[in-house]
Parts: sequence; C-alpha cells; structure tokens
Amino acid sequence: MMYTRLLYALFLLVELAFGANFYDRDENIMELTPSNFDRVIHRTNYTTLVMFYAPWCGYCQELKSSMKSAGKILSGMVQVAGVNCDESVNKQLCAQNRVSGFPTLMVFRPPKINLDNPKKNVNGAASQHATEVYKGERKLKPIVDFALSRVKNYVKRLNRYSKFEELLKSSRTKYAVVLVSKKEKIPTLYKSVALDWLGIYDFYSIWDEKLQDVSQLSFENDTKNWPNTVKYLQSLEKSETELQSPRIVVIDRETDTYEELDILKSTDKTDIAAFLSKFESKPREGPLSKRQEYLKSILNKSKSKKSKTKKNKQKTKLTKDHIVQDEL
Ligand SMILES: *[C@@H]1O[C@H](CO)[C@@H](O)[C@H](O)[C@H]1NC(C)=O
Ligand SMILES: *[C@@H]1O[C@H](CO)[C@@H](O)[C@H](O)[C@H]1NC(C)=O
Ligand SMILES: *[C@@H]1O[C@H](CO)[C@@H](O)[C@H](O)[C@H]1NC(C)=O
Repeated sequence: MMYTRLLYALFLLVELAFGANFYDRDENIMELTPSNFDRVIHRTNYTTLVMFYAPWCGYCQELKSSMKSAGKILSGMVQVAGVNCDESVNKQLCAQNRVSGFPTLMVFRPPKINLDNPKKNVNGAASQHATEVYKGERKLKPIVDFALSRVKNYVKRLNRYSKFEELLKSSRTKYAVVLVSKKEKIPTLYKSVALDWLGIYDFYSIWDEKLQDVSQLSFENDTKNWPNTVKYLQSLEKSETELQSPRIVVIDRETDTYEELDILKSTDKTDIAAFLSKFESKPREGPLSKRQEYLKSILNKSKSKKSKTKKNKQKTKLTKDHIVQDEL
C-alpha cells in the first residue's frame, strides 16, 4: 500500500520534472513553441487544428484524450498541434493569437492558391493563414468533422462533358491524376494528396454515374487526339465490376498514356506518394517530402525527453471506408 503510494508520488514528480506538456509523447500531435509555430502553421497548404491549453485546467484535461484520438484520425489530412500557454516561452504566442480562455481550439486555414495564375498568389505576411475559433461541442466527432470541413479542396469533379475536355486538353500540368470510384464524395485523404502535389499535378475525381458522359467526347476533337485515354475511360464505364476497386490513374496528356494504382492493394499515403513520384519530382508536402521530415523532427524532439519512445508506425490508410466517406 505504502509502496504504491510512493510510486504514484514518484510518478507525479517525474511528470512535473519533465514538463507537463500534454502531447510530448503523442505520435500525431506536435507541441509548438515560438521557434517553430510559424513554419509549422503558416508555411503550408495544410489546415492546422491547434489546442491552446494550460496543463492545470480541468476542461483541458477532459479534452486531452479526445484530441489524441482526433490527432490519430486526422493524421495525414489536417495537422494537429498543441501549445502549452503555461510555459513562459509560449505566453506571447498565446496572447498574439488572442487566447483568452482554456482550452481554445483554433483552426488555421491556408489561403486559396490560384493555380491558373500563380503570379496572383499573395506572398509573405499576407499569406498568413486565417484563424477560426472552434465553438462547437468539445467531443471527438464534431471536432474532427469541423477540422476536415476546413481542408482546402483542389480536386475537380469530372461531372460534365466540358470537364472531360479539360482533363484531356489542359496544358497546366503534363500529368493529370484521377481518382475513379463509386462514390461522388471526394475523400479528404485524396484532397490531402492534392495538397502535397499542388501545382505539380492537376487532380480530378470521377464516380461511376458520370462515366457515361465520356461517350459525349467527339471523335473529331477528342478521340482522335487521345485515343488511348478515351478508350480507357470508356472501358471503365462498361465494366461496372472493375469499379468495385477504386483506383488512382495518372494520365499523361502529352503522350496519351496512363498508369493505374489500385488503392485497395496499396492503401496508404506513402504508397500513393511513391507511385506519384514516378512521374514528376518529389511532393512539396506529405510522405517523401522534406517538409514531412521537418514535421517528424518536431514530433521526435518533444518525445526524445522520454526514454520510451514508441515507434511512429501508424500509417494513414486510404481504406475503403475513406473512399466511401470520411467515416469515424
Ligand atoms: C502551396 O502550393 C503552391 C502551389 O503549388 C506553392 O507555390 C506554395 O509554395 C505552397 N505553399 C507552401 C507554403 O508550401
Ligand atoms: C470541335 O472543335 C471545334 C473548334 O473548337 C468546334 O467548332 C467543333 O464544334 C467541335 N466539334 C465537335 C463535334 O464538338
Ligand atoms: C528521433 O531522434 C533520435 C535522436 O534524437 C534518432 O536517433 C531517432 O532515429 C529519431 N526517430 C525518428 C522516428 O525519427
């Protein structure tokens, strides 16, 4: 009895001595300070969910485990971070962000990038992300839904004949990436893949009901110049059963060739990134990017205080559920 109490007291002491940041040992949530806040939050095309907290605050402690779950679910789609406002080094950061109570959940949204006219994009301070305080219920599902709804979408739906023409004819990028699935909803994970390769590839999605529009492509203008791609798209329309298995197709607009990735077989973002890397250079963000290494170093730095570092093995799966909808 005495022994257990002693152990417990010791445990508390250790917690205090090693800084009581909530997420030091978390595999998905970054503990931020003024030295990395700007680079993590503002130098990205990703949306970030930040929890400003104080370790002693009861509501913060209640929210802690939901945030850990949110971090796991949002991994790869939304950046999740914590700022311990009790640390003197962070006080100014919390004040700058007008944190007046704990916990404050805030989303930082990137500016919309104009892909048609890159020169129009704002730079420097003007490209700071917009902030939005989360006012909803402090429960897992609404928090996750809120964060996912704030992810910028650069995936175009192929839902009209004219869009198919654009898919073939646009010269904005050499390659076009198309998600072919049975569902109309664009999975957020696919939107996040588009963020990783923004401006490098054009991203589209198509679902089976709209495939019949392919037949409207005219021989005179489309079929003649892209016979392989058009034939491929038409073959998808005819083979209903093949669509059971969603896939990502990379179309080379210049040479009229294509390559498929079956995403039920290769299911995580790293596999998708490896596949997409075959065509152009590396992505700007996400798996295989320098930026990802940087973000990992932040996760690792806060964890290295502790001796027992769990391996960050968890991968984001683009599972069937992700394709169906962003299910929890
Ligand atoms: C966001 O994407 C655009 C378009 O590719 C790119 O020019 C820009 O550098 C990206 N922003 C950041 C902060 O990485
Ligand atoms: C082919 O393109 C030309 C010029 O853009 C257009 O005038 C013509 O109507 C198109 N033909 C068909 C069958 O869509
Ligand atoms: C974390 O950092 C340590 C050194 O500080 C390094 O040995 C280890 O490989 C890193 N782990 C990961 C997952 O990056």
